[in-house]
Amino acid sequence: MQTNPEIPDDHENEDQEKTHTSLISTDPARDLKDIRPLPRVSIQIFAETPECMRAGEEAAKDRRMARAHLKVLGGGMSAAIEYFGEAPTPNVIVLESRADPETLLEHLDRLADVCDPGTRVIIVGYINDVRFYRDLIRRGISEYMVGPIRDMDIISILAELYGNPEDDPLGKTIAFIGAKGGAGSSTVAHNVSWSIAGKYETDVVIADLDLPFGTAGLDFNQDPPQGIADAIGSPDRLDDQLLDRILAKCTDKLSLLSAPATLDRLADHDEDCFDGVIKVLQEGVPITILDVPHTWTAWARKTIVNADEIVITAMPDLPNLRNAKNLLDLIVAMRPNDSPPHLVLNQVGMPKKPEIKSQDFADALGLELAAEIPFDPGLFGLASNNGQMVSEADSKNPISEIFDKLGGVVTGRVEVKKVEKSLLGPLLAKFKAKSQA
Ligand SMILES: Nc1ncnc2c1ncn2[C@@H]1O[C@H](COP(=O)(O)OP(=O)(O)O)[C@@H](O)[C@H]1O
Ligand SMILES: [Mg+2]
Repeated sequence: MQTNPEIPDDHENEDQEKTHTSLISTDPARDLKDIRPLPRVSIQIFAETPECMRAGEEAAKDRRMARAHLKVLGGGMSAAIEYFGEAPTPNVIVLESRADPETLLEHLDRLADVCDPGTRVIIVGYINDVRFYRDLIRRGISEYMVGPIRDMDIISILAELYGNPEDDPLGKTIAFIGAKGGAGSSTVAHNVSWSIAGKYETDVVIADLDLPFGTAGLDFNQDPPQGIADAIGSPDRLDDQLLDRILAKCTDKLSLLSAPATLDRLADHDEDCFDGVIKVLQEGVPITILDVPHTWTAWARKTIVNADEIVITAMPDLPNLRNAKNLLDLIVAMRPNDSPPHLVLNQVGMPKKPEIKSQDFADALGLELAAEIPFDPGLFGLASNNGQMVSEADSKNPISEIFDKLGGVVTGRVEVKKVEKSLLGPLLAKFKAKSQA
């Protein structure tokens, strides 16, 4: 939730603003036919009245919501504040409140403390007043609807939020590249994707750009259609419906555009080869992970340089350092106004292998270390053989926490630790501390 200081405090346009669609409770004649299906966003409604609850439940059944995830809960704003104190916020929160303006604004300020910056907030209130509406917009609220609302009000307001072609695209792309082949870039990309989908409850698509040798299908134990090849093979037909067909679903929120992994085609694509598919992904999915192979071609360079975030995975030795330095110099020169790539050191602590110390490696590049992942052939080998992610293979392993944190860093989200509600929590903690002493 972001505040919007640009709204002036004059009242010139009050009459005009009173007719703002969001201020009108319901318009029975509103035509839903033209409304496009929602992208793969997650939405949570906190209803206070049975009408709003029902409207949310009905909206969830609409065909336009088939790709989106809509959860309806009760308890209104106070329940939302409590809930999001312990859980990450989704792409959109719809909050119903029958409170007076003062209380509602006070609740909103409390919500802002626990809300991710990218989350959009829609308020369903019962106060029909333009000054109050302005106060809400100034606090970063995306829309205000006067209740009671119906299912179509929810659908059309959400479609409006995501339907403006002039807005920034919904999705963020994160490109992962290894400083050297075998550094573990794909492994890191896949595990981080798993964390983003699971811990941050955000829809993620992994696009495996290594057409001949990609491992995303194997890593997730999927024997899917050759997604990415179909996507670049029919650029004219590529839209969100084709995308639905060629995506392999790993979990409710994680899907793959996997590589065909056959050698019957060469991988010397045009420089613009992936532009179309990346655009469609950005329009329909909050997070796209681009698993870029360790090659230096025009298309690989373009994909990396145009990504919203870049993650370089390296092993702590000299060839990796040299390559990482060259990659970094080029990326910084081509993206002077972006923050530098994230550096991940992987396979740290390999027995008998002389290493460059992680901090020295990062200092030599002038980068902060985003994550340091130990060498653990047992764990990674087991996960790989089972077609699982690290946290599935061994949920208690601290390495899965490293991936969770990295997921938060690359998406710019803060993971809020789940609070232990059990009464035994404090006792167990004491016991643990004792047994470790
Ligand atoms: N931290 C690690 N410890 C042990 N093995 C690892 C680790 N990270 C990755 N691996 C293994 O290294 C191999 C290469 O990983 P991969 O992700 O395919 O590299 P890249 O995509 O950089 O070429 C895989 O077999 C993977 O299981
Ligand atoms: Mg790879």
